[in-house]
Amino acid sequence: MVSFEVTDACTCYCKHCDHGGPRDESKNLKPADYRRYMEALRPCVVQISGGEPLLRHDVVDIVRDIKLGNGIPYTILVSNWSHMTEEKYLALRDAGVHQFSVSLDFPDERHDQFRGYPGLYAQLSDLVPRLAALGHDDIVLNSCVTSENVAEINRLGDKAREWGVNICYSSYSAKRTGCRDYSLTSPEQLALLNRELDRVESRRDATRWIVNAPSTLEATRRFFAEGKMPGCKAGHRFLVVTSDGWLQPCSMIFKRYRLEDRARMAEEFTKNNTCDECYVSIRSYLDKTFPRLLWENVSGFFSVQAR
Ligand SMILES: C[S@@+](CC[C@H](N)C(=O)[O-])C[C@H]1O[C@@H](n2cnc3c(N)ncnc32)[C@H](O)[C@@H]1O
Ligand code: SF4
Ligand code: SF4
Repeated sequence: MVSFEVTDACTCYCKHCDHGGPRDESKNLKPADYRRYMEALRPCVVQISGGEPLLRHDVVDIVRDIKLGNGIPYTILVSNWSHMTEEKYLALRDAGVHQFSVSLDFPDERHDQFRGYPGLYAQLSDLVPRLAALGHDDIVLNSCVTSENVAEINRLGDKAREWGVNICYSSYSAKRTGCRDYSLTSPEQLALLNRELDRVESRRDATRWIVNAPSTLEATRRFFAEGKMPGCKAGHRFLVVTSDGWLQPCSMIFKRYRLEDRARMAEEFTKNNTCDECYVSIRSYLDKTFPRLLWENVSGFFSVQAR
């Protein structure tokens, strides 16, 4: 999996993230540059992320340029949807986006406070159900669990049901900002997490609207309880291409390599990596053994398109 961070700039100022606000965008790769990365890296799954990818007025061209033909690779747009419209959604689908991952941290206006973007929740409550009603079944809420929203895990699930979309939970990591305030550390917080996730497990059904595999939610509990998750495959199973074209093992490790030095990154970084400080979605999908990955991908991760 390759994650293209197509801009470092953002429309939000989230409490849990270091990307907030405007950035120098003069060195951003151009749409045509992405083809070189695709041909060299040949990923089966691509994430288009940022910063806020919808700030790029040429994001549809970027999607077109990363497609290798026959729908390959499976393409996920990770966005806060502050700049989404019906026209953009349809153009992005047409260009080849398979899955729209929409960040939602609270099932109400607290989302605006957490993201530093007044009116965002109202916008999502209008747009998400309206686009879901088109029936493409390609929208997944992406809820990063923090100390602030751990009690909302099931209410976020209720919101997904109400809006007619799927949900995927991920875990806050202090690695990005250095701030431990949003980690779950106290016994009360961990007990609440376990109660909420028990209930999530009981709500699974054949439609697979809860996108995380059960093994991923089990590992999420362990990550918060132990404060670490060893066995990271950053730089090997997945990597990041920064907005200005460098390779990084992940979005939180700022070791930069040229495209031509990808093998050196795996040799120098991945083989010796002892970092265990996150369990973000990209890891939760890709750290598993190959047979488990294959099984869960066929039956779970791609279920958004497969059913
Ligand atoms: C970095 S954002 C980029 C895309 C877009 N701006 C968005 O918010 O969806 C991708 C995802 O990372 C999550 N995220 C941000 N800071 C995080 C952190 N410290 N730990 C774990 N996930 C984090 C966000 O909630 C979001 O769902
Ligand atoms: S989480 Fe996404 S929306 Fe929030 S500041 Fe980071 S990049 Fe921007
Ligand atoms: S555990 Fe892996 S993906 Fe997470 S911050 Fe460390 S190196 Fe990056």
